[in-house]
Amino acid sequence: MGGCVDGALDARGSGRPVDGVLGSSVIEQYDPGRPNLLDRWDGHQAWWDARLAAAVDPYCKTTLGKIGPAGTTRMRDGAVRRGVNFASQDYLSLAGHPAIAEAAKRAIDRYGVHSAGSPALMGNSAPSVELERRLAGFLGYDDCTVFATGWAAGYGVIKTLVQPHDYIVIDRLAHASLQEGARNATRNVFSVPHLSNAAIACRVERLRREHPDAGILVVTETVFSMDSDVPDVAGLVDICRRLGATLLVDAAHDIGAIGATGRGFLERQGMTGRPDVLMGSFSKTFASNGGFVASDHPALKQALRSSCGPLTFSNALSPVQAAIVIAALDIVGADEGRRRRARLLENATRLRRGLQSSGFELMGEPSAIVPAVLGDTALSRLATRHALEAGALVNLIEHPAVSMNTCRWRLQVMADHSLRQIDDMVQIAALARQKAAGDLGRLGA
Ligand SMILES: Cc1ncc(COP(=O)(O)O)c(C=O)c1O
Repeated sequence: MGGCVDGALDARGSGRPVDGVLGSSVIEQYDPGRPNLLDRWDGHQAWWDARLAAAVDPYCKTTLGKIGPAGTTRMRDGAVRRGVNFASQDYLSLAGHPAIAEAAKRAIDRYGVHSAGSPALMGNSAPSVELERRLAGFLGYDDCTVFATGWAAGYGVIKTLVQPHDYIVIDRLAHASLQEGARNATRNVFSVPHLSNAAIACRVERLRREHPDAGILVVTETVFSMDSDVPDVAGLVDICRRLGATLLVDAAHDIGAIGATGRGFLERQGMTGRPDVLMGSFSKTFASNGGFVASDHPALKQALRSSCGPLTFSNALSPVQAAIVIAALDIVGADEGRRRRARLLENATRLRRGLQSSGFELMGEPSAIVPAVLGDTALSRLATRHALEAGALVNLIEHPAVSMNTCRWRLQVMADHSLRQIDDMVQIAALARQKAAGDLGRLGA
């Protein structure tokens, strides 16, 4: 259907084609051939402006009011959209939790709002140090270091561990922070087929044979952020132990949100505390910016303090953020956390079933991420527009975040979504996709 489509409806949906905005990818819009570094982005700007004019730019939305299962957002052109919210990451619905708001207010009164320094100097605060201690225990490691973002944690730990003469074997779909960390650490990066332990074993065996003294880092995620699928971590631990490689796993999307006690898919697999290095983010479940790196190795913490650019040369997590994460951790570890995780999983399962029975292909397995496949780029952009207009706040994932024409809505479920909100999402999704197919039919695509 869509590869041949190269026009869109105008903002009022009159059917007037707008060239170039439906089928092409953002990566085609940058012109590296121009000598002026800023002018290179002119085509890119024009392309986004054309998408906005055609009402097929669903990005850079601004949340108005608080994060919750329903909400209001302002589009880049000022249009306001209201509806059920499957576009925010607040998996246990802690962003609006009164105990967490109280903890933040108490922290402001006691510690002020700012860390005012790098952790390597004097940026640590009583809450950030307590958080590191508490998190290490929760995650099943001896030590933990917190970062201002999850991105900095993933990028930074790879850059710290791996030298240019070392090797990295990384799942093809691992997060951008990990990919960029890997490529900036060494040119010796081997990207392996998604979830293939066989491919990882084969590559690591060969590297170990050819480079007996080199360091080898294997990188994956506990649940993949665009596909909601899960690797066999026990198999990876075995491969790494056998061949003297180091295993780094990113648990951004499941820590706190999945597993009987909230220790994620590692807990489900009986692998809590087993990867050599675990990293993650607070931004999905713990109601705050921030990230962490945990390990049993006694030398890693000081190595990060002195040699990890995004930690050493960047301001520490604020005491308010640290206090928020501690309060979230209290809830995650309590009975309330268990109940919230149960509701989250029930909601994700209901959403998956509803979308499936409306003809959507769903990827991966039940988690807070529900990837509903739309496929074709043009159809996806139009369907997203219709969904937003009809009262469903959604995020479209398109190339280059995923392969061309494998677009999807990455719906993010919350514990506090009601059954009604989930059913509304399903109904709007089906109608939006149907309307988009109609649009393309009228355009002759
Ligand atoms: C798998 C994964 N790792 C790391 C990050 C970065 O986390 P943060 O938002 O805390 O920077 C993200 C967030 O997009 C993610 O999806």
